[in-house]
Amino acid sequence: MVAVAAWRFVADTWFGAPSWNLAIDHRVDAPADEVEAWLVDVLSPVLPTLDAELDVLVHASYRPAFAALRRLGLGIDSVQLVGEVDRAFERLEDAPLPEGLRITAMSRDDLPAVNAMLERTFAEEPEHGWFCALPKFVAKQRRELEDAVQSADALQLVVRDAHGTAVGHLGASLDPTNPFWGPATSLGLCLEPSIRGRGVLRSLYRAFLAGLRDRGIRVFRGGTSRPAVMHLGHVMGRTLQGANFRRNAPFPPEHFASWLPAG
Ligand SMILES: CC(C)(COP(=O)(O)OP(=O)(O)OC[C@H]1O[C@@H](n2cnc3c(N)ncnc32)[C@H](O)[C@@H]1OP(=O)(O)O)[C@@H](O)C(=O)NCCC(=O)NCCS
Repeated sequence: MVAVAAWRFVADTWFGAPSWNLAIDHRVDAPADEVEAWLVDVLSPVLPTLDAELDVLVHASYRPAFAALRRLGLGIDSVQLVGEVDRAFERLEDAPLPEGLRITAMSRDDLPAVNAMLERTFAEEPEHGWFCALPKFVAKQRRELEDAVQSADALQLVVRDAHGTAVGHLGASLDPTNPFWGPATSLGLCLEPSIRGRGVLRSLYRAFLAGLRDRGIRVFRGGTSRPAVMHLGHVMGRTLQGANFRRNAPFPPEHFASWLPAG
């Protein structure tokens, strides 16, 4: 056996949409064109029958799988980046926050503003997080933020404007005993449009990384299609875990060229 493709239906995914999880593996020494042709042959009658969302994360080194998925009409939705906390902190030089803004821990009083910002943002810009406005995801996010503001260990940051209103948020989903990654976290981040494009993200990442170091978390992971996040990913020395594929992906391959030069 030189290649394998397997799929299973997952009704209750963490992102809130019933999905077909598709996994692909192949030997690296197998001829790429044969693997690609085999995958196209096997998956072309199957994909139309997978009548829900697809959940497909393929490592960037699996180029025959990339090529086959493209030929089957899928595209890249986001890249999955992995960062090492100490290394990222050392590489990311600080920059001053624009006047009037400051970064603090999130409190219970911030919940209405943060929830409203997150829900509005992803309803308006679904291409940067297709599942983030789904009712199930939103309900889970609300529960998690409610719990987080009551936990001394949580790492939830807000950017405040001069009136003290939360106009940005970065939330860590801490996983201190991950069996694969070790002490790790995923994250979500969001800025109000009024403070975007002003260099706030660098300071927010610095505060996040400092908080992770204090908690002994060594790895941070997240999927993105945002150019600013992809750019600072390079600055922080993050590595590419892989790419998430979808039907009707919203971006052309060139959108991810800084991480996937050949598309
Ligand atoms: C993602 C988001 C936080 C980025 O915020 P932003 O205000 O645009 O980011 P900044 O202005 O701080 O820019 C951060 C860096 O990216 C760079 N950058 C911004 N846009 C860029 C682009 N199109 N291409 C390359 N680099 C870019 C900036 O120059 C800056 O780099 P520097 O610090 O080295 O100068 C913001 O777009 C957002 O909140 N979006 C909605 C929520 C969302 O999509 N969340 C999911 C994120 S994975």
